[in-house]
Amino acid sequence: MRGESTLSGETTLKALVKRGLKVGDNCSIQNRVVIDPGHCWHIEIGDNVTLAPGVYILAHDASTKMHLGYTRIGKVKIGDNVFIGAGTIVLPNVTIGSNSIIGAGSLVNRSIPENVMAAGNPIKIIDSLESFVNKHREQMKRFPCFGEQYTLWENITPEMKQEMNRKLADGQGYVR
Ligand SMILES: CC(C)(COP(=O)(O)OP(=O)(O)OC[C@H]1O[C@@H](n2cnc3c(N)ncnc32)[C@H](O)[C@@H]1OP(=O)(O)O)[C@@H](O)C(=O)NCCC(=O)NCCS
Repeated sequence: MRGESTLSGETTLKALVKRGLKVGDNCSIQNRVVIDPGHCWHIEIGDNVTLAPGVYILAHDASTKMHLGYTRIGKVKIGDNVFIGAGTIVLPNVTIGSNSIIGAGSLVNRSIPENVMAAGNPIKIIDSLESFVNKHREQMKRFPCFGEQYTLWENITPEMKQEMNRKLADGQGYVR
């Protein structure tokens, strides 16, 4: 073993920023996110970005090291207001344009433009942001929408949890 351990959870965001990671304001970086600890100065994350649980962002690829003596590296740039779904892997040399949504479990191996919804392994553009938002705005008229009082942060009661599950019996809904 050589150097500092880089296991997930052992490197704080503050330490990564000190090493050169750029992160904008108001980002939500959730549990078990890994942002390439050994190469984080090649990674730039904009403002208001959500990295859902288990997102893995890589700026290096050591598959070449054994045979060529060098590790491949590449910048990763994530624009403003981007949402990256749980368990997604972002590979080196990729840009994700502002306002785009990346589905859970995706493999982002090529750049994604602004204002789209993309998902899958390998990643594919599925919809425009406008059409995605309009679809959900329409669905919100038909499905139950719950206010902030229905969250753990606002101390939701057991009765309110049951009420939610009753109302969700026919499918999906939305919570603030
Ligand atoms: C990507 C996402 C936002 C799309 O939502 P949506 O538009 O309501 O999705 P739909 O279910 O209508 O699917 C639209 C199409 O995208 C595909 N799709 C949706 N999510 C996908 C995903 N994660 N990976 C691959 N394909 C996906 C669907 O199969 C469907 O394709 P089809 O029309 O060929 O059948 C959502 O599926 C998702 O992954 N959200 C992230 C959830 C998450 O990470 N939560 C963590 C807590 S923040």
